[in-house]
Amino acid sequence: MKKARIIVDRNFILGDVDNRIYGSFIEHLGRAVYEGIYQPESPFADEQGMRKDVIKLIQELNVPVVRYPGGNFVSGYHWEDGVGEKDKRPSRVDLAWATIETNQFGLNEFMDWTKKANTEAMMAVNLGTRGVEDAKNIVEYCNVPGGTYYSDLRKQHGYEAPHDIKLWCLGNEMDGPWQMGHKTAQEYGRIAAEAGRIMKMVDPSIELVACGSSAYGMKTFGYWEDQVLEECYDQVDYLSLHQYYGNRDDNTPEFLANSVEMDQFIDTVVSICDSVRARKKAKKRINLSFDEWNVWYHSNNQDKKIPRWSKAPHQLEDVYNFEDALLVASMMITLLRHADRVKVACLAQLVNVIAPIMTSDTGAWKQTIYYPFEMISNYGRGKVLHTLVQSPVYESRHGDAPYLDSVLTMDEEAETLTLFAVNKSLDESMELTCDLRQFAGYEIRKHVVLRHEDVKAVNTEENPNEVSPSCNGVSSIENGVLTAQLQDKSFHMIQLAKKK
Ligand code: AHR
Repeated sequence: MKKARIIVDRNFILGDVDNRIYGSFIEHLGRAVYEGIYQPESPFADEQGMRKDVIKLIQELNVPVVRYPGGNFVSGYHWEDGVGEKDKRPSRVDLAWATIETNQFGLNEFMDWTKKANTEAMMAVNLGTRGVEDAKNIVEYCNVPGGTYYSDLRKQHGYEAPHDIKLWCLGNEMDGPWQMGHKTAQEYGRIAAEAGRIMKMVDPSIELVACGSSAYGMKTFGYWEDQVLEECYDQVDYLSLHQYYGNRDDNTPEFLANSVEMDQFIDTVVSICDSVRARKKAKKRINLSFDEWNVWYHSNNQDKKIPRWSKAPHQLEDVYNFEDALLVASMMITLLRHADRVKVACLAQLVNVIAPIMTSDTGAWKQTIYYPFEMISNYGRGKVLHTLVQSPVYESRHGDAPYLDSVLTMDEEAETLTLFAVNKSLDESMELTCDLRQFAGYEIRKHVVLRHEDVKAVNTEENPNEVSPSCNGVSSIENGVLTAQLQDKSFHMIQLAKKK
């Protein structure tokens, strides 16, 4: 049996959890919007055509912010096509995904949907095929109370009160050669600065996210971040990171070690932001928005067969297995371990498209990755403690990978302490200890485990509960020391609370 130890001190606080790290993403792509969140002909639809069964599952996930409408899609999007009377809205080619966009769902429907799903919008503007003027117009349409062309247009469309959207993305993945309107770092930095400046002139209360690299492995990574911030440091509040992982060579230990790389990626971007800050002698710190992250590779071959100009095809419909859920848990633990600088994060995406939730005409079900997200999003709030983890390690292409990924969060008001832990060993259980004598009077309230003997096990519509959590964790507290048994390949959520 492996042994690991966690050392914490209740006064050593890394930072507050910004709840927006439990964000997600809906793009006009595949069946995310049409047949995902919106399907007027479905028996599950409400009077506006929104799927109620999907809304319920999203509410359980407790997602405070949803990025919209893309992704690659936004770089060719005209938001004006998706507002006003539905029968007057044009159908357009979407060059990002080679599909047809009918525009039957747009900005106002999305804002109505966010209210139903108990979430808020993180809106992206098109800095690919469009620019500063359009970025100004959409903020005016959404956030100005009235008395101007675009705010009055919103009123004519039936929305008297402004949408008051607080968080805005300045384009999407502008470093990627696949992106419509792809730019060099200097070109993008300039347009981000100018669009950002004018958007904040319309509404000074908004916050802006500039595009960082679309992956750690991009050739321009590092240089891009530095040069973009050189141009737009004063106008923006966050820099984005995107990263997807796949187990393409079917090597589970290597696949699970990807959280080590994610950790390095975050540390490096923090260093670049701070070096630009030092160069500029700026007061302000730029924080991070990890606004696309997930596992994505299962659907890659299938997607090559989709005919061009389909409407809402089955695209990027990864069916997630148990090892994907373990990596998603580790990625979320990694985000929490950087709570001092990562203030926004979006699981990409939310429904049908590389998503925790899948739909068909007959229902909606939870993929394996739904569970770690749901547990960490609901219980990982409050403050993150500096967590020193002493764990055995294994060799990986990213260097030493600890078998144990873990973090502790503390909610002072609720007097709870929550430990999240992944044991990555495929064949050995682990005994984990943590000295909690500073938390006198705390007892174990819940110990939930996500485990399956087969790392390739999946949930399907026919068999939706193949991989699901159980409350059968084994842990105890003796003389203030927590001891937990972590079976091989398992994820744990152990919640302690002060005895009443
Ligand atoms: O989430 C799917 C796609 O991945 C997004 O459209 C794009 O931003 C990224 O490359």
